[in-house]
Amino acid sequence: MAKVVQAWSCVECGTGHPKWTGTCSGCGKWNSLIEDVQIPFAEVSQVKPVQLGKIECENFARQETALPEFDRLLGGGVVRGSLTLVGGAPGIGKSTLMLHLAHAFAQKGLIVLYVCGEESAHQTGMRAERLGIKGDNIFLLAETSLAHVRAQVEAIKPQVLIVDSVQIVHKKELSSMPGSVTQVREVAMECMRISKGLNITTFLIGHVTKSGELAGPRVLEHLVDTVLEFEGDKQHGYRILRSIKNRFGSTDDLVIFEMGGEGLKEVSNPSKLFLEERQKEVPGSAIAGTVEGSRAYLVEIQALIAQTSYPNPTRKSTGLDQNRLALLLAVIEKRLRYQLYTLDVFVSVVGGLKINEPAVDLAILTAIASS
Ligand code: TYD
Ligand code: MG
Repeated sequence: MAKVVQAWSCVECGTGHPKWTGTCSGCGKWNSLIEDVQIPFAEVSQVKPVQLGKIECENFARQETALPEFDRLLGGGVVRGSLTLVGGAPGIGKSTLMLHLAHAFAQKGLIVLYVCGEESAHQTGMRAERLGIKGDNIFLLAETSLAHVRAQVEAIKPQVLIVDSVQIVHKKELSSMPGSVTQVREVAMECMRISKGLNITTFLIGHVTKSGELAGPRVLEHLVDTVLEFEGDKQHGYRILRSIKNRFGSTDDLVIFEMGGEGLKEVSNPSKLFLEERQKEVPGSAIAGTVEGSRAYLVEIQALIAQTSYPNPTRKSTGLDQNRLALLLAVIEKRLRYQLYTLDVFVSVVGGLKINEPAVDLAILTAIASS
């Protein structure tokens, strides 16, 4: 095993130092040393180039779970030995989703190792019980050291590994904090070696903040095979799982889940859910058909037009592009001669969905005209 070389180097002149010091011995600058960790590659590689025509193209071995919508999102099941990153804001339900997924794999007879570094095994166990998940195929490991995780992977030999989360698990050899860019990247690289080397289907959970500023999922997107984003409005019960990168299938597809007392449930007919609470014969509502990935949905667009009490009327949209709304309002004013400059306009997509497709423009116009 090649040894990790830990060093500090000066950002000004590049002089290397074995330890941190206040001044650089090369150029005399103060506070210019940054940590420079070098992890050497093994010197001799056995890998040789292969002619393209000689590569055997067999289909990826896919594993179906007991969650049909989730399988569809990934292109017909989870590819064995693939590395998937599941990103989302804290508290959105990533751990809950992963527990359901662990259960779905266990039901198919696979051994799952769930690294619950953020919570104790007891806490995770209690949640699993509340969700009605039990079974001997799921192993919980409350551990944050990557070396120990790897040792357990080699001992238990699971087919599925879930790491919750990539920000809490860390390499002890590195002096930077868990969750820092160096740590997160190294952890992900190691997980890639585990998933490719031992053919273990691996899921990494990563927290993203609204601004995407924290070190984490954004720096990992190029490393992993698949990136799934879990989002939703905490006020609504719906959660949307979106595929934004997929080396084994199409992207821009989504699955809708409903969060309830017994965890997440796949919604197989989202249109029904979105139109469920619609009141008929009410002005300001229009239904549009929209396509996301491989599916078509019916969604309701609502508009509210009210007399403004300010010199500048308000124009607000939820789930739709603000600039697009401005353009459509200009079309209505110019072509249909509606006088909207004294009116506030609010438009939203019901159910917390975000729609970019131009096909909903007509529904937006109709809803505004109707209101
Ligand atoms: P969690 O999976 O812990 O989120 P994350 O791992 O993304 O931080 O889910 C947290 C929220 O989910 C919590 O605020 C409550 C809600 N929840 C339910 O509504 N029903 C349930 O059955 C469970 C397990 C969670
Ligand atoms: Mg969690």
